[in-house]
Amino acid sequence: MAEKTDVNELMSICKRRGFIWPSFELYGGVAGMYDYGPTGFSLRNNIVEVWRDIYKGREGFVEIDSETVNPREVFKASGHVDEFADLITYCTKCQAPFRADHMVKDFYDNADVLTPKQLEDAFVEHKIVCPECGGKLGPVEEFNLMFKTTIGPGSARIGYLRPETAQGIFVNYLNLYRYNREKLPLGVIQTGRGYRNEIAPRQGMIRMREFNMMEVELFVDPEDKDWVRYPEIENESITLVPNTTCEPAVMTIKEAVDNGIIANKVLAYFVNTTKNFLIRLGIDPARLRFRQHLKDEMAHYAADCWDAEVLLSYGWTEITGIADRGCWDLSRHAQFSGTDLTHFKKFDEPREMEIDKIKAKHKALGPKFKGKAKDIAAAMESMSPSDIKDGKLTLSIDGEEIVLTDEFFEVSKVKEKVSGERVIPHVIEPSHGLDRIFYSLLEHAYCYDEEKGYAVLRLKPEVAPIKVGVFPLMEKDGLDDVAKEIYQKVHSHRVEAYYDGAGTIGKRYARMDEIGTPWCITVDYEYFEGGDKGTVTIRDRDSSQQKRIPAEKCSEVIDSLLSGKPFSEL
Ligand code: GLY
Repeated sequence: MAEKTDVNELMSICKRRGFIWPSFELYGGVAGMYDYGPTGFSLRNNIVEVWRDIYKGREGFVEIDSETVNPREVFKASGHVDEFADLITYCTKCQAPFRADHMVKDFYDNADVLTPKQLEDAFVEHKIVCPECGGKLGPVEEFNLMFKTTIGPGSARIGYLRPETAQGIFVNYLNLYRYNREKLPLGVIQTGRGYRNEIAPRQGMIRMREFNMMEVELFVDPEDKDWVRYPEIENESITLVPNTTCEPAVMTIKEAVDNGIIANKVLAYFVNTTKNFLIRLGIDPARLRFRQHLKDEMAHYAADCWDAEVLLSYGWTEITGIADRGCWDLSRHAQFSGTDLTHFKKFDEPREMEIDKIKAKHKALGPKFKGKAKDIAAAMESMSPSDIKDGKLTLSIDGEEIVLTDEFFEVSKVKEKVSGERVIPHVIEPSHGLDRIFYSLLEHAYCYDEEKGYAVLRLKPEVAPIKVGVFPLMEKDGLDDVAKEIYQKVHSHRVEAYYDGAGTIGKRYARMDEIGTPWCITVDYEYFEGGDKGTVTIRDRDSSQQKRIPAEKCSEVIDSLLSGKPFSEL
């Protein structure tokens, strides 16, 4: 079996066999947009189900679904309004837009870290002109990637299509925290659409303007970045490309943590979870690595980030990012919404701690506030130093708002026995690009079978869109009735079967091989007579081996194969 990924042939299979279709082809298409056909949608759903099995099933995280249009406040707080931009340049002659870093990528390893000025200088130095018309490239400026809209008529309320599903989880943190009975860790997952108005979408499904994500936000105690299952995986091997060496190295998770390559155990655990998730889906382990972001490459919210990269015909490509977002998101939403988003961390035993407290200056309060001074002092001393805004405390006594400057209070350290403290949870985020994973699985599953003379998709049975083809050898003599009966018994929305009675049996096998169907059942004349009466054949896609099984056991056999029983043991 010769392995070669012929991308044109793969894309042709995808279109012909209903995996993906370029969107709006009827009207000439729109770059960076694809629709999923029936087989593609099943494959995509199956990927999501494996992800759910791991995060919701095994880890016990909860799943939510939040809005895709968000008011501006959300993305002002998250930093996306100010930071989520690529650098753009327009041709001064034909006005065509270009991503500025893409224009110089042949001259730099990491062109995406260059500043606008460095990019403008690079255009001059390397004599880069408009690839469309040869015109001079204009100034480099920022282009925010969010799609902007208005919520309701007019332009009173600006909104954006979400560039990540994560913010829907952060803005629901309080609801989720209460749902989790105010305990950490708290793991939340969400799958859905994200939108990025890419300047120049290229590379098929790798850079889409409307895309699907599977995001996991794990809220943890900042001082407890451990994970209960970490000991189970610490000896597993992984290929890492740390930002200190930028060279791939195979090591155990334990070595990576103990040597400070991955900053903490919880991040390491989820890097490893991502590895196992991708391999379970069918990513080739030899074409998978985890690359740490360079310091100047990190997203505005990330304290550390590891990308799962797979080798595709496009080169090494990020398909999942596992970021330590620290306290960025919750601190910002707390600050912008004026809401307390802290977690009360109860100590095992009360601890004596030095804490900042507000103390009233009674000598100043008395002459000014007379009879109210006592109440004001008590109200002030019950407040926290975090309530001081712009050096002032605002309180309400008998319905009257009183604003006090530090003439009337001071903050001093006192020793107190405390039962706990308030902390802002940190977030560990494995964020999966669903469409990228989908496409990578197709590339890694693709192989051209020289003997058969056609391409086979060796998709893992768990994700294959169709699990079993059901054929009558000939569509006559009652073989078709038996095959249809088997199809009806086997087919369900979780175990999709496909009945096919048209054309030669070889062509029918080829059609199933091309969409990655792992098994085919054929009803032949031996079903009716002889020693094999009542049996049908089952064929394995990868070995082309065939066995006979009792017709009434077809569902049972498919279930056992789907649970991992080797075909050779049937
Ligand atoms: N939430 C991670 C990302 O948008 O890439």
